Amino acid sequence: MSKYALLSCGLFLMACAQKPVTYVGLADQENSFVKTILPKGGSCPSVTLEMTNKHFSSLPLHDGKFDDAAICEATLPKNTAVVHSSGGAVTIPQSPRKIVIMGDTGCRLKYENGKGMIQKCEDKKEWPFSRLIRSAEKENADLIIHVGDYHYREACNDPVKCKNYQGTLGYGYAPWAADFLTPADSVLREKPWIFVRGNHEDCHRAYEGWNKLLSPVGEQTCVDDQETRYTSFGNFLIVNFDTASVDDRPLDSKSARAQALKARYKKMVETINARPETEVWLVTHRPFWGLAPSWSGPGVAPVNVNLQALTEDLPLPKKVKMVFAGHIHSFQIATIARHPAEMIIGESGTALDLYSDEARKMIPQGYNVFPSDHGYALLERDANNKWIATIKSYDGETDFVCHIEEYGVPCIAFK
Ligand SMILES: [Fe+2]
Repeated sequence: MSKYALLSCGLFLMACAQKPVTYVGLADQENSFVKTILPKGGSCPSVTLEMTNKHFSSLPLHDGKFDDAAICEATLPKNTAVVHSSGGAVTIPQSPRKIVIMGDTGCRLKYENGKGMIQKCEDKKEWPFSRLIRSAEKENADLIIHVGDYHYREACNDPVKCKNYQGTLGYGYAPWAADFLTPADSVLREKPWIFVRGNHEDCHRAYEGWNKLLSPVGEQTCVDDQETRYTSFGNFLIVNFDTASVDDRPLDSKSARAQALKARYKKMVETINARPETEVWLVTHRPFWGLAPSWSGPGVAPVNVNLQALTEDLPLPKKVKMVFAGHIHSFQIATIARHPAEMIIGESGTALDLYSDEARKMIPQGYNVFPSDHGYALLERDANNKWIATIKSYDGETDFVCHIEEYGVPCIAFK
């Protein structure tokens, strides 16, 4: 990123929102995409593709609209190695060795008629997403994974308390720019992303922005369950399973929703088993083995009971080495017998979930709810190809280092 861009984005965040940004979303081979957003509209540019055989070609982007912004997009052909645009170049890794994972990044504004929550979006301690992005940029990772919940600026109707947020509320382009596109600008234009859908982006909430900004080309109609995406990097596979609309409350097993979930899950397990890759990560928004602070008294509540029940009947394949999720706003690791380890990274910007001392005493065996600050995870392969997760906070300080082993995920605290 140029010195000028850093200055303009760092000091005047809205200035970045006005500049075109080109970014790459990875999905299956047929659905990885490039988008250029022109915040004030205009005619769509082309991008230049560098293929794995070093040949170059021009790819025109096609028009879409989101309020006044032009959404220019195209599906990337197979074997794209680098996407060059006027804003820079994004390299698609053959075999990522350094991956940043973050989740639940937006600034919560849900305050109506005297009730709800206002997160101070202008306070970088209270909403530190832009600081975390700046730290993540310095990691120079090969890939960024966002485990969902980008958009939190839903409503705020107190004329005094909400005056700073007028114009950036609701589900249109402006709140999406304020919550995600503008703070994430530098990393969006430099690194490829895998975008996971959160429940904030389901068909009742910020689905328009999700579909237009972060979904593959041609997915402009909202569906409760998007296709499972399989992004392959040689022997390493990242499976993106959409749990945005899977209720956290128990479903009636005979209901259409429960049956649909079971069928999608079974198809995913069968597909993973049939694929040639031997190392698989599952990325999804709602955790299989998460603990939320209980809403009905002291203690903790399991999230998501419907997903967990599926794994009892049909366990995830052995080659699924890790599950990464968000949804709960803390850093957690679950290592439950017979299942892959799961890491929850839902602490990347929105207000953190708080666990009382009483609740912490009721955490069952196999679960670990860390006393975390806002942060993100940096996953790196060591010389033996094993993954090490470093959990970093605000300005890149190391809080925990966790080794991903077959038997579990032991962590050392640094804070
Ligand atoms: Fe969520």
